[in-house]
Amino acid sequence: MTNRERCQARIVRGSDAPCSRLVVSLGRPVGQNFQTTMTLIALVRPTQPNAGKAMKKIASFLFAAAAVSLATPASAQFAKPEDAIKYRKNALFVMQQNFARLGAMAAGKASFDAKVAAESAAVAEFMSKLPWAAFGEGTDKGDTRAKPEIWKESVKFKEYADKMQSEMSKLAAASKTGNLDDIKTAVSATGGSCKTCHDAYRKD
Ligand code: HEC
Repeated sequence: MTNRERCQARIVRGSDAPCSRLVVSLGRPVGQNFQTTMTLIALVRPTQPNAGKAMKKIASFLFAAAAVSLATPASAQFAKPEDAIKYRKNALFVMQQNFARLGAMAAGKASFDAKVAAESAAVAEFMSKLPWAAFGEGTDKGDTRAKPEIWKESVKFKEYADKMQSEMSKLAAASKTGNLDDIKTAVSATGGSCKTCHDAYRKD
């Protein structure tokens, strides 16, 4: 068993035992626009109050991601509508957890750590590509806060999703430079792009 497997096994069992670094190798492309094989390093801090929950979410996201192949069209990627809903919610959750770390630093609520900022932004940028393939037909009902308008206004919905991804990429670029002022500007623009879509397409 590699360290990674041991770490994942602990997460799957729901244990909160120290497992501070989860290195996820995705051996094949996931997400519609992601053509390169890559290694995603998700940093989960066991000291955070939500670490156990976050780890479980990441673990379930990973199994969903591993089951997805680019060879199949987006609409056929999920065996059941519930799977698609779970996949997008988990992807959004993991993205938000990483984005929130930058938000806290930008607001002065957490001390600025350039390394954590760059790593969190890279994970958030990667995650920002994933939810959208899981908004296929038939996924409007169930355990979801998605408004039915999404499927009537799919062009606008995609526009908002693209806008957020492009703001998130700018945030990742700013985080690489380590300039806190640039990070603040990008956090605010990215946050605005989340809100625009939530106001229109997410139920309270
Ligand atoms: C294009 C539209 C859109 C954009 C942009 C968007 N979201 Fe969302 N978000 C949604 C919808 C729709 C849901 C409800 C999903 C569901 O319940 O199936 C959602 C749900 C969520 C959830 C709840 C997931 C869960 O566990 O139920 C979080 C957290 C979230 N979004 C964070 C963000 C953050 C942070 C951003 C910006 C960085 C963002 N979203 C940008 C549409 C969007």
